[in-house]
Amino acid sequence: MNKNHTTQHGSWSSGWAFVLAATGSAVGLGNIWKFPYITGENGGGAFVLVYLVCIAVIGIPIMMAEVLLGRRGRATPINAMRTLIVEASASRFWKIIGWMGMIAGFLILSYYSVIAGWALSYVTKSALGEFSGASAEFVGATFDELVSSPLSLLFWHTLFMFMTMFVVARGVEHGLEKAVRFLMPALFILLIVMVGYSLNSGGFAQGASFLFSPDFSKLSWTGVLIAMGHAFFTLSLGMGAIMMYGAYLPPQASIAKTSFLIAGADTLVALLAGIAIFPIVFANNLQPGVGPGLIFNTLPIAFGAMPGGVFFGTLFFILLVFAAWSSAISLIEPMVTWLVENRDQSRFKASLIAGVLTWALGLGTVFSFNLIADVKMYDSTFFDLLDFLTSNIMLPLGGLLIAIFAGWLLPHIMSLDELNLDTRAYSLWRFLVRYVTPIAVLVVFVNVTKIYKIFGF
Ligand code: TRP
Repeated sequence: MNKNHTTQHGSWSSGWAFVLAATGSAVGLGNIWKFPYITGENGGGAFVLVYLVCIAVIGIPIMMAEVLLGRRGRATPINAMRTLIVEASASRFWKIIGWMGMIAGFLILSYYSVIAGWALSYVTKSALGEFSGASAEFVGATFDELVSSPLSLLFWHTLFMFMTMFVVARGVEHGLEKAVRFLMPALFILLIVMVGYSLNSGGFAQGASFLFSPDFSKLSWTGVLIAMGHAFFTLSLGMGAIMMYGAYLPPQASIAKTSFLIAGADTLVALLAGIAIFPIVFANNLQPGVGPGLIFNTLPIAFGAMPGGVFFGTLFFILLVFAAWSSAISLIEPMVTWLVENRDQSRFKASLIAGVLTWALGLGTVFSFNLIADVKMYDSTFFDLLDFLTSNIMLPLGGLLIAIFAGWLLPHIMSLDELNLDTRAYSLWRFLVRYVTPIAVLVVFVNVTKIYKIFGF
């Protein structure tokens, strides 16, 4: 295996620490906020099926490719690519993987932070008992009131960006990484409690059938693109975040096993969130397709009705904030490390610069829910368009480039050496990254007319 490379960042003590950090990045708002609402908007079962297939045949192989490139390149994505380009005698064009990733992370965090702000505000609402015994109408009105107030959203967004900058400035290994060890299992257990509640909510059968019986007449090509984009988003793929963590993976740890573990945990959390939420939707005659407010319109109803709801509700939103926090760090870290390594900034200053820029762009998302909610480009608000461009175009495109680089350009012997798999498993991985990912991404892109509109042809 690759023992010649030493890292400037030290190594994780074991593969296990890498799994925790990467799971901290993967599990976040994507699983609990985004997965349910896009599933609701895209008709349910068929969408879920496409998403699961994408995780299996695109997500896991691309995750393995990112980890292997990261471990081989031993640096931040942009600098790792520089090393790998030399090793593969490839064109300097491929540095675009690092660049695009850094930009995608910045764009995603700008709205991710606004949504994490909603979760922060729901910590206080739950703790104050606002939802005790609340009706669906009251819960819905509470959410509408929050998002229609630019000042509230601005406040919570600012607070969340501060939290992110704080951790990134001190270096990720202090504290938060350790906290994730306890908080992830806690989130998991709490989701199981909520699934238990949903089982008895009266909407379980309908919720389960919405999620798991596919009806392909309800799924458009745009829906397929959103499912595929989400496979990248939820696993933190396509922008070099996992590559960055891969740089810390010890040489003896198995890339395939760790990737399966991370993807498995991530998928389980998303499915549990779906199983907890949709029964509440149907039991209260709500619409599955209400959009980004879905979890905020449903879960408080359950907390308001269950015994110990103030405690469970507060704890849930706290855990959601932590999950978002550990994901936010991986979105901004490539930019911060790049500023440190290539622009000679101190870590503190780099975090400040990256954080302030991200915060400023986030204002667009803050106002897209109120002041400029009616300003539509390509039928989308600012937030929707930013999400579409990043999740559904930049991440799959990044994944496509990573697949081509790892599958076609990196010498065969290097990926074989890094992955250290038996011949059949290796051939399967290579087939998936060389053919399946690039073809799938292109076929889906070609069929989505919104992409033609945005790019003007
Ligand atoms: N995966 C995270 C979530 O589901 C979000 C995230 C963190 C991300 N880092 C990323 C998405 C890198 C894309 C790329 O909430």
